[in-house]
Amino acid sequence: MVVRSSSDTPPGGPRRPPLSTASLMLRLGGIAVVVAAVAGAFAYVHGNLDPQRLTPKALVDVLEKNNGVHPGFRRNHGKGVCVIGHFESSGEARAFSTAQVFNEAQTPVVGRFALPSGNPYAPDSSVPIRSLALRFTQANGQQWRTGMNSMPVFPVGTPEAFYQLQQAQSPDPATGKPDPTKVPAFFAAHPEAVPFLTWIKTAKPSASYATETYNSVNAFYLVDGNGNKQAVRWSMAPVARDAAGATAPEGGDFLEKDLVQRLASGPLRFQLNITLANPEDPVNDASKNWPAERKVLNAGTLVLEKTQPQLSGECRDINYDPLVLPAGIQGSDDPLLAARSAGYADSYLRRTSEVSQLPAAKQEARP
Ligand code: HEM
Repeated sequence: MVVRSSSDTPPGGPRRPPLSTASLMLRLGGIAVVVAAVAGAFAYVHGNLDPQRLTPKALVDVLEKNNGVHPGFRRNHGKGVCVIGHFESSGEARAFSTAQVFNEAQTPVVGRFALPSGNPYAPDSSVPIRSLALRFTQANGQQWRTGMNSMPVFPVGTPEAFYQLQQAQSPDPATGKPDPTKVPAFFAAHPEAVPFLTWIKTAKPSASYATETYNSVNAFYLVDGNGNKQAVRWSMAPVARDAAGATAPEGGDFLEKDLVQRLASGPLRFQLNITLANPEDPVNDASKNWPAERKVLNAGTLVLEKTQPQLSGECRDINYDPLVLPAGIQGSDDPLLAARSAGYADSYLRRTSEVSQLPAAKQEARP
């Protein structure tokens, strides 16, 4: 029997035999493979490996190409105004969703009305579409963010088609203007755009943000306490319609002035209508209408009390990512939703890193 003295055993146990060069190379090789796999995964996620793959960067780049780069402004829906108010639940959506916003009497809201162009100086009469984005902050801290448009359906159902439509509108390097044949050629090859094109034929730029109905366009799910899911689309419809909003004057900046004027004589109210899908209705294709006779819940009233300038107001640093949802509301598998979420984050990063480049006059103090 060999008795070892305590000095024979190194601290931490018996010493391992030295590694041979071959096994050292093998181990280092293993580490290199792991590092390469991780780097490959990152490259895949960022789209570096497949130049054909559509990335959030490419989506936002094409918006910049078409509208110019306007530091500090959103890359789409660049011209807008913040609105502050609250939501009063009617309790009607409570049976379908556990979200606190449908159960509490009041939930504070920070919103933003806007024009759907990446040019923050676009005249209000230049497009017949207006948008309303809202952030509801529930008492439990969870948020519901939604960005809605005044059109009932989107021209296309996929991010790839949205990208191609933007490309069709890009300036031709030779002329500096879009090639007028490209958009008609795009629509000829995209019959899914017919419901949108039918709507836009009669749509006119409104004179007021207050007279439009704003639609989620994408589908979502309401989820009840037993986990039952109901596919829905929602919209905010003005409670009091008036003819004054119907026809817009030519040009300029009338929308924000109109809003300020209306709010000076009291809050503006919109009704939250939630349309319940039938099982056969498409939940993953925002280019398709749902039949008009679907059941609609009146989930409550949005009350807007005041405006704030978009460059200093509370909406400035909000990314109205449509997938920021409270428990009780879930995204559908509509591919536009994930693309919106990723694209808005990219736009948000660009614009919030540029705020210091805004002309001094526009850098008003935050409230
Ligand atoms: C793949 C498709 C889409 C892309 C790439 C896209 C891209 C963008 C981007 C980059 C912004 C600016 C975000 C920011 O800087 O905060 C934006 C804003 C907005 N988008 Fe989209 N969008 C898409 C589809 C849609 C759809 C289907 C709707 C339907 C309602 C929509 C509604 C809005 C609204 C309301 C805003 C303004 C939000 C605000 O006021 O901050 N977008 N979009």
